[in-house]
Amino acid sequence: MRTSRLSLSDAAIREAAEALVRGRLVAFPTETVYGLGARADRAEAVLRIFAAKGRPSGNPLIVHVADREAARALASEWPDAAEALGRAFWPGPLTLVVRREPRSIVDEACAGGATVGVRVPAHPVALELLRIAGVPVAAPSANRSTTISPTTAEHVLKTLEGRVDVVLDAGPTGFGIESTIVDVTRVPMRLLRHGAIPLADIARFGEVVDATAGASSPEVRAEAPGMHAKHYAPRAKVILVEAAEVAAEVAARQAAGQRTGAIERAPGTVVEGLREGLAAEPEGYARELYAALHRLDDAGCDAIVIAQVPDDGGWAAVRDRLRRASADESL
Ligand code: TXA
Ligand code: MG
Repeated sequence: MRTSRLSLSDAAIREAAEALVRGRLVAFPTETVYGLGARADRAEAVLRIFAAKGRPSGNPLIVHVADREAARALASEWPDAAEALGRAFWPGPLTLVVRREPRSIVDEACAGGATVGVRVPAHPVALELLRIAGVPVAAPSANRSTTISPTTAEHVLKTLEGRVDVVLDAGPTGFGIESTIVDVTRVPMRLLRHGAIPLADIARFGEVVDATAGASSPEVRAEAPGMHAKHYAPRAKVILVEAAEVAAEVAARQAAGQRTGAIERAPGTVVEGLREGLAAEPEGYARELYAALHRLDDAGCDAIVIAQVPDDGGWAAVRDRLRRASADESL
């Protein structure tokens, strides 16, 4: 398969929408990361996503739609919490898990489960694409399974060139980490993945249990099958240390002959070579993190030493991604 890369224009969005309708695979920007889209109401289209990503078929996909009404049409039950959260955060980086209306999308999109994760993305290009296509679009992050999520079209092509029909290039994404996932099929609601919207913002709309705390427990693995640790990992070994220990850790590894990169919170610092200085606050840090990991991986690092970030609510999603990137299973 030849991948066609389209620069952003109205014609390009139309061409991408037509490809989606024909059952093709289209990588497109969202406000979080690039998604690998296919229409969610056609089994053969959805199965191509799993094949292109090398994703286990038991891991359900998030379905993207253009507005709240379209989201509701995928659900067999629409709890008050879904209505309230949808009104508050959509379009935006929030995925709601609801009971699904079985005829709206194919079983393959939901890994045969009784629920569907649905979201209305805030990126204007994604919204326009969804409006023109007029079909629900299943879209995981546009990367091979277990590799770093893509925040640019180049990142998509790194692992999916020749495996995706169209890449719609609209430059870097805004949030840089994935959507927050909340299961609203139960009371209290359950946070299944930390993401671009902090837990505290969700909690304003009702009691919410943080189900990610034991993220590698069998129970959570069954709830959100993609939530196990072997995700978001670069090829290099990632070592998380306290900020004060970064220099010593880098020096020790270099002395041992390892090509070693580092990621620190160092805003305004002139950073050279294999050192990446990211923002001091969580939003800016999140926006830059995956691109920094991609760069250090591309530079052939054997090891990447990352300074741990603060242990407070605003940093929860970033801490989660750092923990996954450094998980032993990913090596
Ligand atoms: O920001 C995002 O959410 C991006 C963009 C492209 O929208 N998408 C994304 O998709 O991160 P993906 O496939 O990489 O992650 C989706 C996660 C998986 O861990 C999956 O297990 C979980 O959502 N998920 C999807 N449907 C679910 C469901 N019905 N119940 C529980 N978890 C679900
Ligand atoms: Mg992903």
